[in-house]
Amino acid sequence: MRFGIERPETWQVCTACRNEMVETDPHARCVRCGGLLEIEHRVPTAGREELLRRFTERRGAPVGGSASGVWRYRDIVLPSATEVVSHPEGNTPLLRRSALDRWTGVDGLLLKHEGHNPTGSFKDRGMTVGVTQARRIGAKAVACASTGNTAASLAAYASLAGIPALVLVPAGNVALGKLAQSLAYGARTLLVRGDFDDCLRLVEEASTTLGVYLLNSINPFRIEGQKTIVLETLEQLGWDPPDWIVLPAGNLGNTAAFGKALVEAKAWGLIDRLPRLAAVQAAGAAPFARSFAEGFARRHRVKAETVATAIRIGDPASYDRAVKSIRETDGVVLAVTDEEILAAKAAVDASGVGCEPASAASVAGVKRLVAAGTIRPADRVVAVLTGHILKDPGALLYYHRELEPPPPGANRPIEIEPTLAEVSRVLERAAPSGSG
Ligand code: F0G
Repeated sequence: MRFGIERPETWQVCTACRNEMVETDPHARCVRCGGLLEIEHRVPTAGREELLRRFTERRGAPVGGSASGVWRYRDIVLPSATEVVSHPEGNTPLLRRSALDRWTGVDGLLLKHEGHNPTGSFKDRGMTVGVTQARRIGAKAVACASTGNTAASLAAYASLAGIPALVLVPAGNVALGKLAQSLAYGARTLLVRGDFDDCLRLVEEASTTLGVYLLNSINPFRIEGQKTIVLETLEQLGWDPPDWIVLPAGNLGNTAAFGKALVEAKAWGLIDRLPRLAAVQAAGAAPFARSFAEGFARRHRVKAETVATAIRIGDPASYDRAVKSIRETDGVVLAVTDEEILAAKAAVDASGVGCEPASAASVAGVKRLVAAGTIRPADRVVAVLTGHILKDPGALLYYHRELEPPPPGANRPIEIEPTLAEVSRVLERAAPSGSG
């Protein structure tokens, strides 16, 4: 169907066949052709100055929706939502560390640290909107497939909303912190003997047959929430856009969200030009980078393998929406090796910031793009750190304690007898390395 002149404030549209559906339609995909859905909003009636005034006024609210770095932008996220399921979330910092300027070769690299969200990843921004929508439509249960962070976030927000949650994760390939969170927040957790792509196929089938509301990032309400990573960054920069925004890419929900946020922000007069997006994949899970190298002539599917388990995805669901984002922002897609990811992670960690392995792909990507001359040292660059350092303690301990031969950044723990002589002997051997 298509709406006539009486357009609602917000509706859903199929990105493949342009079929339009009401905002409260619970289907995960287009009911006509099975394509991916996208949320569309009428052009906000409030102009630029009024919108910016509202965003600023809400900042710092002690409680309620406005305390959230997602719902502060509600006019361009989900204006019709009144009762929101919020932790609150968002309000994450932009960090600068000179050690990372030196490591990447960018003067004044900014890190948008999404690991500062309540469950430790950017997923909370999409989940507050997704679970709010689940409650609005009266969902009896919610479900997702996940490499771990979506599961942890869904588990927390479903518990907040009092809705039962089902999560499907690949057995043996979920970082410890994420699995522990899903269990602790109370989601029914299925360890699937397969990879993420198997989990996603299964949960989509289950959601259609069992009538469970699907909250993977194919859900367009999740994308609306994730747009606020970009909106909040732009606000922190005084609505003066950077030259580049660099992010890790797996299932491509975030790449889709970033492009949508930027294009809307420009269309609605919040910014006057578009930053370029750089989406960074792990070399062993890089079907999108491969398509980009071929001018997006065709979509690829691979059997994924990488130490960055969060982005161990071979058949990204939001492919079409992400292609649009890269095209519209004159963006680039690249792949970095596991060695580059681990080296970037060691640099981010040693700077005192810390992040999980997948997040470090963005910093590895910045270094690679500077070396290639695509990013210039004087460009204004924001790299997004998507998850907290403690999400993946296994990767940390492996790198620092077990990897042979020890990599240059390895910080081996030293076991000693309980004597002062032993402490003093260790201190004499090596002063700890600060990197500032
Ligand atoms: N970084 C982290 C820490 C992630 O958890 C993910 C995705 C990404 C980057 C990539 O984002 O999928 O939108 O391209 N994690 C999903 C999950 C797949 O299930 O937690 P994307």
